Amino acid sequence: MHGRKWTGGLSLEDNMSSITLASGRAMPLLGLGTWELQGAKCTDVVERALNMGYRHIDTAHMYQNQDAVGKGIQQSGIDREAVFVTTKIWHDALRYHQVMEQFQTCLDLLQTDYVDMLLIHWPNQAVPLEETLSAFDEIQLSGRAHQIGVSNFSIEQVDQAIQLARTPVCTNQVQCHVGHFDRSLWQHCTQNGLLVTAYQPLALGAAVNHATLVEIGAKQNKTAAQVALRWLVQRHIVAIPKASSEAHLRENRDVFSWTLTDEEMERIDRL
Ligand SMILES: NC(=O)c1ccc[n+]([C@@H]2O[C@H](COP(=O)([O-])OP(=O)(O)OC[C@H]3O[C@@H](n4cnc5c(N)ncnc54)[C@H](OP(=O)(O)O)[C@@H]3O)[C@@H](O)[C@H]2O)c1
Repeated sequence: MHGRKWTGGLSLEDNMSSITLASGRAMPLLGLGTWELQGAKCTDVVERALNMGYRHIDTAHMYQNQDAVGKGIQQSGIDREAVFVTTKIWHDALRYHQVMEQFQTCLDLLQTDYVDMLLIHWPNQAVPLEETLSAFDEIQLSGRAHQIGVSNFSIEQVDQAIQLARTPVCTNQVQCHVGHFDRSLWQHCTQNGLLVTAYQPLALGAAVNHATLVEIGAKQNKTAAQVALRWLVQRHIVAIPKASSEAHLRENRDVFSWTLTDEEMERIDRL
């Protein structure tokens, strides 16, 4: 068993758009989700997003779009170092050698020699977590993943990962949106130096019609989608909405120059 080797600590950068991870590096609080984006459409959306200021792209081996994501990054002309790229190893490839092989495939498809964050996509009880994490540690220590993390992990599984990993486990990417907020998990992660990354931050689009969010947004000339995302980032939760239109990309980007009041935050918490 390995003890924790870092002190954790989350602090906001000055511009409010990125947060410092337990590794000491920054992670943009807003990213672009790419699940279900494919081929030329995916490449186009990634390129557009980067050109309008996004600096964080979320993909996974399972999404079968890493080649398109990689092309989008290349075509944007933005320096690779300026873009935070997350990918994930699927739950059927968590044996040491499978991780190594699938990760190399990810790098090849993304046309890069490192990712910023490498996640265990889902836990798999059939494979010892220690074995998976030994591969993740090795990848991190070799510099081919600047950070490692987990996804869809419970409190108990997060604790196991922290105990077993030799390098900081920097995030737990979980389903998190208005109406689906696991406060205990969030608090536990934060107290132990893991940032929570919210997937499905717009509840697959359902949040955009929520009456309370519409009402709260109207006061500041913001949409319900923007309120849903602001509620997350204001809590220092990373949000990775997927959007495929230019209008949605622009709308989702506008979550840093305004704030929700404490009362509004609590009202949304109760939904
Ligand atoms: N770790 C995991 O197990 C896991 C699981 C699921 C998802 N994820 C990640 O999380 C990302 C986000 O989750 P998600 O894609 O499932 O759901 P989501 O981001 O909550 O919702 C995406 C939907 O919302 C719509 N939308 C986006 N912006 C909008 C806006 N401003 N107004 C109205 N509608 C808007 C999109 O439409 P358009 O496409 O038409 O713009 C799309 O239909 C994924 O893409 C993926 O990268 C991870």
